[in-house]
Amino acid sequence: MSQAISRRQALALSGAAALCGAARPAEESLDALARKKGLRFGTAMPAGALADAGYSGLIAQECGLIVPENELKWYVLRPSAERFDFGPADRLAAFARERGLGFRGHTLLWNRDEYGAKWLPAHDFGSRPREAAGRMLRDHIRTVAGRYANQIDSWDVINETVDPATGELRATVLGKLLGPELIDICFHEAKAAAPKARLVYNDYMNFGAEEATHRKGVLKLLEGLKARGVPIDALGIQGHIGGGVDSTPVARFSAADQRDWRAFVDEVRGMGLDLLITEFDVNDRAMPADTARRDAEVAALAKDFLDLMLDYRELKQVLVWGLADRYSWLQGTAPRADGLPKRPTPYDTDLKAKPLRAAIAAAFRAAPERRTWA
Ligand code: XIL
Repeated sequence: MSQAISRRQALALSGAAALCGAARPAEESLDALARKKGLRFGTAMPAGALADAGYSGLIAQECGLIVPENELKWYVLRPSAERFDFGPADRLAAFARERGLGFRGHTLLWNRDEYGAKWLPAHDFGSRPREAAGRMLRDHIRTVAGRYANQIDSWDVINETVDPATGELRATVLGKLLGPELIDICFHEAKAAAPKARLVYNDYMNFGAEEATHRKGVLKLLEGLKARGVPIDALGIQGHIGGGVDSTPVARFSAADQRDWRAFVDEVRGMGLDLLITEFDVNDRAMPADTARRDAEVAALAKDFLDLMLDYRELKQVLVWGLADRYSWLQGTAPRADGLPKRPTPYDTDLKAKPLRAAIAAAFRAAPERRTWA
């Protein structure tokens, strides 16, 4: 154990040395702060960022684990019904191994056709479509989860299958063919292919009255899974706060919202599930243009949310969806009215730490200790 840590530290230092002299805070890394409390800190990373030595060095320095941003999704892995392309995901897996970082899996099935394989909606499932769809899904999970069974320690088995508008399961190509059993098939197959990995349901239900139906739908799904003995270990709370892509901007975590959100999280832990924050960022779409004011609002909202979440000893990992603003998916998603670049992540575009990094560090420092997952 101590050997593993010192190897990690050595690797992190060599990563830091590769930063070409860029100024780094002379502080403990976010992952080091997290580890003191039994937590882990990580980020999503696209394969394209591997060529950016400054950014990948920063990731190796700050993080204990990475998750491929898109490279394990069907639309990257499955160029056709017959072929798998593991190239980009394998490059990220190699980077994680070389830098001594953990590797998360996202996701075995993003159950939304607009984010699935392009060929899937027109695919001919033949005369026994239900059987053929089941075979395709099982084969996908066995192949993908099996390939990384020794490296991926937790998988988002299913991503976003609850429709926020209705709380029901989304009607997708595979969902229509297989019915609700689709979800159970995925978890059982993942368990068989990667018996040591923790299995997670991941979704973007959020705090706020607008999100009540989504939260309720997720609880209903989780209750069903538990009642049927489906192997699930945790709920992944994406944690895209500040207002979703299609919803009203949210600048504060009000007392009423905190109460409702706690009630939701309490139900989840009451089912014996652990918790992860899998995709944390703060959408500053409607925050002030002034950089200092905006960064302060982002940091304050983040601190309120993280303090509440870290109170739960069931929370085992915190991952951000990008460590620096230049890699944030939010830049191209629902832009600001004034056209200014967004500032949703802990580091700015020049890889300088922002108040959000300090807020995350402070939240880790204030968090109670918990039993580690790793
Ligand atoms: C996003 C990526 O960041 C983008 O690069 C891609 O174009 C679309 O997907 N919830 C999720 C993630 O579960 O997979 C999404 O990632 C962001 C929202």
